[in-house]
Amino acid sequence: MRLDTVFLGRRLKAPVLIGAMTGGAEKAGVINRNLATAARNLGLGMMLGSQRVMLEHPDAWESFNVREVAPEILLIGNLGAAQFMLGYGAEQARRAVDEVMADALAIHLNPLQEALQRGGDTRWQGVTYRLKQVARELDFPVIIKEVGHGLDAATLRALADGPFAAYDVAGAGGTSWARVEQLVAHGQVHSPDLCELGVPTAQALRQARKTLPGAQLIASGGIRSGLDAARALSLGAEVVAVARPLLEPALDSSEAAEAWLRNFIQELRVALFVGGYRDVREVRGG
Ligand SMILES: Cc1cc2nc3c(=O)[nH]c(=O)nc-3n(C[C@H](O)[C@H](O)[C@H](O)COP(=O)(O)O)c2cc1C
Repeated sequence: MRLDTVFLGRRLKAPVLIGAMTGGAEKAGVINRNLATAARNLGLGMMLGSQRVMLEHPDAWESFNVREVAPEILLIGNLGAAQFMLGYGAEQARRAVDEVMADALAIHLNPLQEALQRGGDTRWQGVTYRLKQVARELDFPVIIKEVGHGLDAATLRALADGPFAAYDVAGAGGTSWARVEQLVAHGQVHSPDLCELGVPTAQALRQARKTLPGAQLIASGGIRSGLDAARALSLGAEVVAVARPLLEPALDSSEAAEAWLRNFIQELRVALFVGGYRDVREVRGG
């Protein structure tokens, strides 16, 4: 069964993106090139990690430079919404995309993570207005994403009249930045309830589908198997994105990342087959 899908005007061999993770450090360069090589070999898309470090320290550019190994993949750059409240504008957004030859930019909303980070940015009043303002000046697709606590319906409503190409719900249930930040700050989790805060991915997808019926949705946050991917597609996602499970294989080699993704895609193929679907469009109900 073919799993081809078109996302942001580009054909992917399966409805799968490598999730936004890393950049900056030397190891990050190895990880990104291994992930990009796997994406190239399998015909998938890739989201880069936050490029703030690259804009502020040009030496970090090399770690985001994946076009050398993957000139053709759908490549999505990344910046934090908080930065656009602190002086970033269309110029920085354009640099993030142009300097790595990306096709689109994802802007992440991560209020819970920032609230738990030492020195985190908590000036969020008016952020949706600001993101719409910036996106209107850009001539490439802009995606809005969370980082693992879920885009909620109120946020989506506030963004609805913006020119956004897609939304990655990045729901709760996978990587918890509330947990990571507590471990980083204190070496232990003081507020376990906060770790689970947010909209779980399945619920976030349902809400997003209802709030923005025509929007292109990416499902991420705890997508761990092809079966999870099939469920997310049936809830209306255009594509899924996987972050955390790819980190270790990508540290190892491009072959390890590719093997992980091949198995994931085969699981998705089997799940669609036993569900009686002929292709990805059918499982989405289209
Ligand atoms: C190590 C790591 C680094 C991440 N860095 C970023 C980032 O820089 N920008 C971003 O938008 N999301 C970042 N994320 C969030 C992921 O893109 C994703 O939305 C989230 O982890 C949920 O997916 P998962 O459960 O498959 O990990 C990161 C995730 C991980 C695991």
